[in-house]
Amino acid sequence: NVCPHRGMKVSTLDAGNTQAHLCIYHGWAFKPNGDFIGAPAEKECMHGKIRTKAELGLQKARVAVYGGLIFATWNIDGPSFDEFLGDAKWYYDMLWCRTTKGMEVLGPPQRFMIRANWKTACEQGASDGFHAVTLHRWLAEVCPYAKKPSTEGAGEDLTPEMYGVEVWTDHGHTMRCIDQNRKIRRLTGKDPSKMTVEEKLTVLPPPGLTPEMVPDLFKNLSKEQLAVLASSPPQVGNFFPNGLFEFIYLPMADGKVMGAMALHAYVPMGPEKLMFMNWILAEKDTPPEVKAQMLRVSCQLLGTSGMVEQD
Ligand code: FES
Ligand SMILES: [Fe+2]
Repeated sequence: NVCPHRGMKVSTLDAGNTQAHLCIYHGWAFKPNGDFIGAPAEKECMHGKIRTKAELGLQKARVAVYGGLIFATWNIDGPSFDEFLGDAKWYYDMLWCRTTKGMEVLGPPQRFMIRANWKTACEQGASDGFHAVTLHRWLAEVCPYAKKPSTEGAGEDLTPEMYGVEVWTDHGHTMRCIDQNRKIRRLTGKDPSKMTVEEKLTVLPPPGLTPEMVPDLFKNLSKEQLAVLASSPPQVGNFFPNGLFEFIYLPMADGKVMGAMALHAYVPMGPEKLMFMNWILAEKDTPPEVKAQMLRVSCQLLGTSGMVEQD
């Protein structure tokens, strides 16, 4: 998104459609695919005679679409996107490719600047789960989020919430897969050891899904994936290096939980500055009233307005 003339940002928008991208500085125009159309004062050859028009297009990234997300790289001859995902794809599919219709964003992304090197945020994104016990300790202490004294790991102890499996691949992708059986016991009072995979997924559906949407999972995931989804699903993880995602249960004032699905991107803005972008997501099939609740609880706890993220 850099004009080959004198480096102006060409498109200032995040979304939309256009026949031509027009640079605001001197008016050079580019096709949607980045090819150079021309400059004003065509007859006088304002774009110069040093380079041909074919050489004056925007620099093109190699892109791949996965789960409705667009990934891009400047490494045109590098590994394929599938190679880049590697073994992590098997787990990612449980989150990003689990429903037939797929996901949508609940509005434009939130953005804020952080005075830090982007790699520090990425390290946290590579599955630092244990900070929650200390940094987000208030989640167990403060109303309306305080844990009920009668529950397992009662009161102020968040440690049992951390029980789970850490998955990582050679490419640097990581995921925290958190014990679902414990959650089922705690949140529904039922005994998961006597339940089938389908019963477990229905009694406490993955974040963002309703019980009615569970049969759709069986159309999109393998038996083995469904078994993991019902016992230790990936809940927080990263796309190496700078994408972090959360498919989590957030507490509500009435003691129930609401699913939240969010994607963060840590965009380098210089050696000491990063832009934190936060998209709040929902499955397209999720009922509108559930989407509205997901959006509200996500804004309360995540992103620019979120109490967890303020920590
Ligand atoms: S910088 Fe874009 S037209 Fe000059
Ligand atoms: Fe955190």
